[in-house]
Amino acid sequence: MALVTKGIKGTQDTLPGESYKIRFLEATIAEIADNYGFKEIRTPVFEHTELFSRSVGDTTDVVQKEMYTFDDKGGRSITLRPEGTAGAVRAYLEHGLFNEPAPQKLYYFTSCYRYEKPQAGRLREFHQFGVECFGTENPIQDAELIALAHELFDFLGVRDLELRLNSIGCPKCRPLYQNALHDYFAAHMDTLSETSKERLERNPMRILDSKDPDDAALVPDAPVVLDYLCDECREHFEKVKAFLSAMDIPFTVDAGIVRGLDYYTKTVFEFVSDQIGAQGTVLGGGRYDGLCEELGGKNIPALGFAMGMERLRLLMDAQGIDIPPEEPVTLYLAPAGDAAALKAATIAQALRMEGCSCLFDTVGRSIKAQMKYANKIGAAFVAVIGDNELESKEVQLKFMKTGETTAVSLDTFVEEFGTLAIQQEVAALSDELGSDTLSDLDLKAILEGSN
Ligand code: HAM
Repeated sequence: MALVTKGIKGTQDTLPGESYKIRFLEATIAEIADNYGFKEIRTPVFEHTELFSRSVGDTTDVVQKEMYTFDDKGGRSITLRPEGTAGAVRAYLEHGLFNEPAPQKLYYFTSCYRYEKPQAGRLREFHQFGVECFGTENPIQDAELIALAHELFDFLGVRDLELRLNSIGCPKCRPLYQNALHDYFAAHMDTLSETSKERLERNPMRILDSKDPDDAALVPDAPVVLDYLCDECREHFEKVKAFLSAMDIPFTVDAGIVRGLDYYTKTVFEFVSDQIGAQGTVLGGGRYDGLCEELGGKNIPALGFAMGMERLRLLMDAQGIDIPPEEPVTLYLAPAGDAAALKAATIAQALRMEGCSCLFDTVGRSIKAQMKYANKIGAAFVAVIGDNELESKEVQLKFMKTGETTAVSLDTFVEEFGTLAIQQEVAALSDELGSDTLSDLDLKAILEGSN
């Protein structure tokens, strides 16, 4: 029997030290996406299975082998989303967002589910940051989207990623390429894997991203999609490349990038690292001009990308990129006894209403143990409330950075604490920087800006 205290294979818990970092990253990424005009969309974790088989494609590994699909109690086939695009497109169509001015730009942070073999950077539950942009065919939009991905990595300090770019054509030119691929792979029928044999008739392009080593050995000599592009696709691709060059975004054209999902047309791209093992694709995306129509909507061009958050974290760790530490608690109150604990609780409640982080002992530790604890959590200020303090109605507020103490009346503690805290911080900063260099006003402005 499975141990109930052990998580499911391929899933990860995010503990407080890490979840803070994820929250920081999400906030930073959302701010950048916002600068590009993207607005957040949230869609359900499960959808009708057909949504994924029709969009991701029923000859893909994702649909054939990796989806978490089940019948609900009403007998409907339901699937946990393996990616974010299909749900975003469904919502865009369902809510008539095409009636809003184009382009509609949406972003999301989602959990995704794929039954893959877990390894470093490959999970069964993982998380994506994704963007989807609807309503323009213009190659400048492709370039702008790639520029957003490029800026994200740049801003986060992530280095050494290679941007690989390709065009995989459109329904006009793709059949010519599929025919050429079919002929090539058909001539190697004896070495093809069983899955690829099945895909040969329906979608030979899928053989190009087969994980089977025998199939992969055939890929380097296979026909190249760029040789089959129609004039429209070629011109589109040339413009995307020209815009990227003009925007100083380095890229490599890689005719081997075909992506593992069926909905793509024209531009496809991946940001790849060689520093996080075999699963080096941190971000991938492209155009999917036919998907809205395929799902029963209008013919609306669209494009997007998704970044794997776990792979991003792996890469940041591999490159030693630190996330600024979490702000420690501002005030720790150390009460001795019930009456003092009640006083501490009242003060803490009032200060929290003012937006100040404040903790007090709820375990019943000795004052000595509480001081140790306050040190461990890095509290900026500490005040002990014992019988003497209750009686004299006065506490000693200790600024832990300098060890300096100030007497504060318990009756006016809540009103006075904010000002006292700022004064102490200003004095300490002034000492650090040299008091001659900055006026008190400058220092106060710095402190307020840093909060
Ligand atoms: P995808 O390439 O399948 O594209 O996934 C995007 C990213 O999700 C990958 O580059 C990778 O970082 C991460 N990822 C994928 N599978 C796993 C896994 N098993 N474990 C950990 N991370 C993983 C899409 O999902 C498309 N929806 C992207 C897109 C959006 N295209 C257009 N719009």
